[in-house]
Amino acid sequence: MSNKKYHLSEEGSETSIELPVLSSTLGQDVIDIARVPETGCFTFDPGFGATASCESAITFIDGGKGVLLHRGYPIEQLADKSDFLETCYLLINGELPSPSEKEAFESTIKAHNHVENSVEQFMSGFSQGAHPMAMLCSLVAAMSATYHETTDVSNADDRILTIHRLIAKMPILAAMCHKHFTGQPYVAPSDDLSYSENFLNMMFGAPDKEADISPVLAKAMDVIFLLHADHEQNASTSTVRLSGSSGANPYACIASGIAALWGPAHGGANQAVLEMLEEIGDEKHIDEFILRAKDKEDSFRLMGFGHRVYKNFDPRAKVMKESCDEVLKELGLENDPLLKIAKRLEQIALEDEYFVEKKLYPNVDFYSGIIMKAIGISPEMFTVIFATGRTVGWISHWNEMLSNPYRIGRPRQRYTGYTKRDYPG
Ligand code: SDX
Repeated sequence: MSNKKYHLSEEGSETSIELPVLSSTLGQDVIDIARVPETGCFTFDPGFGATASCESAITFIDGGKGVLLHRGYPIEQLADKSDFLETCYLLINGELPSPSEKEAFESTIKAHNHVENSVEQFMSGFSQGAHPMAMLCSLVAAMSATYHETTDVSNADDRILTIHRLIAKMPILAAMCHKHFTGQPYVAPSDDLSYSENFLNMMFGAPDKEADISPVLAKAMDVIFLLHADHEQNASTSTVRLSGSSGANPYACIASGIAALWGPAHGGANQAVLEMLEEIGDEKHIDEFILRAKDKEDSFRLMGFGHRVYKNFDPRAKVMKESCDEVLKELGLENDPLLKIAKRLEQIALEDEYFVEKKLYPNVDFYSGIIMKAIGISPEMFTVIFATGRTVGWISHWNEMLSNPYRIGRPRQRYTGYTKRDYPG
């Protein structure tokens, strides 16, 4: 608790209430508004731009300085020195694992490196062209049928088992969505490969032939998962917390997070960025799109730019850009036309007064699509990859909430409808 307090009083009225300020270890302190209804009013914050919905110790973002910490460790250092599974352990447990703890965790995840045979039957219900995000959302919701009777959300061991199952099974389900979308046979998970190599093999291998996976591409895939792992109380994480606050089945809660992530304003932006770059088609058309992005009458926005929190570079975009250069060099695609358009677009936007004044910088989605396309992943799969990485963040926040006293989330509203009226006649 900080020693600061705020007094809320109505002009011309004697009454006032005292609102305590709760201190945070980093970033903004928070004003506890629990007593505000005593004034006869609610606070009003559509889009929750000024609202802290919970306490959390998992991730800290300083939007002004472009800082992202996972349990205190800067994302740049984790991307450089750690790997996705070690970062999963960190997000879940709060500390980096010792070498023996890391080995045990990797073995635990491998022990869940399979899915029920019924998943293939479930998948057969989708048409081949079904969007992979629709399939993934359905598959994860269907996991709640498999594990409902044996999952007690109030039991810490059941929660940890859920976390391990999801981390292990998401890449398998994601790869199955890709194979079904492209009409190819499924490839079984392998215990002989690393997490990211296993994913790339299930994506690009064949039942009788392992994919030829370069260490550079495996590392890039691991960095992509790591950079997407968690991001504080974003729309999809807040969705998982809200659905989890009712005590709902955790697999159903993760499916709600996948649904929220799909939108082009959120995790669907990576697919939208690639579609935008392809629509621009040539550097000579960039100015036209910049004008459209600035035109209030035009709903077009420069996809991959802007962020509710970052008013500086998204630190993940910087790492993604470096990884992008490495992958394209490895694949001999340094002159990829889309990358050239992206780099020119970024340079123009960062000099344009509109983007400078509104502090619109490239975000995590701006370069990720270019890397994933270069690796051979179809744009429809980009948000599936995002969801596969973000699942550990969603389920870590779910577990953090259920590991502490919590209440069902139930926001109020500003009512602007009819006053009471009688049914005619
Ligand atoms: C992610 O929350 C997270 O942490 C999300 C995420 C995560 O890891 O979970 O980081 C992942 O979702 C990244 C964001 C991906 N989305 C996009 O790239 C889509 C394009 N960006 C915009 O849709 C927008 O910037 C948002 C949705 C990201 C943020 O929207 P806000 O915070 O609601 O900002 P806003 O719409 O109020 O915009 C403020 C101003 C507006 O102009 P004015 O009305 O003040 O004149 O900036 C303008 C907007 O029109 N603006 C843009 C713009 N983004 C904002 N103008 C042109 N192009 C853009 N991209």
